[in-house]
Amino acid sequence: MPQDLRVVLEEWKRLEEEHQQLLETHRLYLQKLEEISKLQKNCSSSISSQRGRLKDVSRLVKKCSKGPSEEDAKTLDEINEKIKTRPNALSEMEAFLPNKNGLYLSLVLGNVNVTLLSKQSKFGYKDEYEKFKLYLTVILLLFSFICYFFASYRFLDAILNFVLVWYYCTLTLRESILIVNGSRIKGWWVFHHYISAFLSGVILTWPDGNLYKIFRNQFLAYSLYQSFVQCLQCYYQSGCLYRLRALGERHNMDLTVEGFQSWMWKGLTFLLPFLFFGHFWQLFNSISLFRMSQLPDCKEWQVLMCGLCFLILFMGNFFTTVAVVRHKVKSRNQKPKKL
Ligand code: COA
Repeated sequence: MPQDLRVVLEEWKRLEEEHQQLLETHRLYLQKLEEISKLQKNCSSSISSQRGRLKDVSRLVKKCSKGPSEEDAKTLDEINEKIKTRPNALSEMEAFLPNKNGLYLSLVLGNVNVTLLSKQSKFGYKDEYEKFKLYLTVILLLFSFICYFFASYRFLDAILNFVLVWYYCTLTLRESILIVNGSRIKGWWVFHHYISAFLSGVILTWPDGNLYKIFRNQFLAYSLYQSFVQCLQCYYQSGCLYRLRALGERHNMDLTVEGFQSWMWKGLTFLLPFLFFGHFWQLFNSISLFRMSQLPDCKEWQVLMCGLCFLILFMGNFFTTVAVVRHKVKSRNQKPKKL
């Protein structure tokens, strides 16, 4: 047998053996996948049955709590305390099981599973979301800068607004996926991005008349400022994320949390004046647009619509931010200092 053919046969034999091994590993992998999907179904149905039974038990406890002896009352109190903490524990378990998509995700993506099944991949996704926001914000900042200082063309403004529409739509999708994966993003921030997408869409259709030219610079300066604040916000939020990851635990925090808390408060007190200034700029935009809509030569519906959007943005942002800060202050005061 020629030497070359022998080499080919030997190589082929080795390849065959490796292929058999691969087949076996893959069969094992499929078997494990099936086992995992069975376990997931089991856990999900146990969780929903536990939820139902918890409700039944708490109803029974309420019934029993009329006039029990001191010892029985103590036992009932203990059960009550445990019942209160159980829903949180169940929700934390649920965060690692396939969840149903909400209406928006079902409409856009269909019935595909978007639940990430490990803490690492959840952090990774959030991290990537923050990076995406930061990169796009820097691009938008540069774009607004060019439009404001160097290039006063309607078609460039249109591109800027189109990028804004695309950016906000993408954020709504990514945030819905984050929420399915256990993020505590307030509903307002997602709604904020729907309104911002709509607002940029309306500005995109605003004809290039006198009124557009009057508002243009104010809007571009606002876009510049907003991008700048969003860069600060991204820095703050990524900082929170990295520190939380370093802590290892997301929601149950204790001793080492003090360091995180102090960093968060430093970041927040630095960020808040910029945020509130931005909110009042939104109010200012809305007042300017309402005034403009009163002018006799104002024929464009976009003026009033944009004014309304800015007003809604101002109210939602302002009141939600105040509520978030109030909640943080309250929980800081309630938490006993452990250091
Ligand atoms: N957009 C997207 N996600 C947000 C968000 C926002 N504006 N504000 C908070 N979140 C997310 C957080 O990342 C966190 O997610 P996680 O559960 O996956 O970790 C969750 O919501 C809960 O955050 P919370 O602890 O309530 O707030 P925070 O400390 O992360 O941020 C603020 C607090 C005030 C800094 C933040 O809400 C904020 O920047 N708000 C102002 C936004 C604004 O007004 N923009 C317009 C500027 S002109």
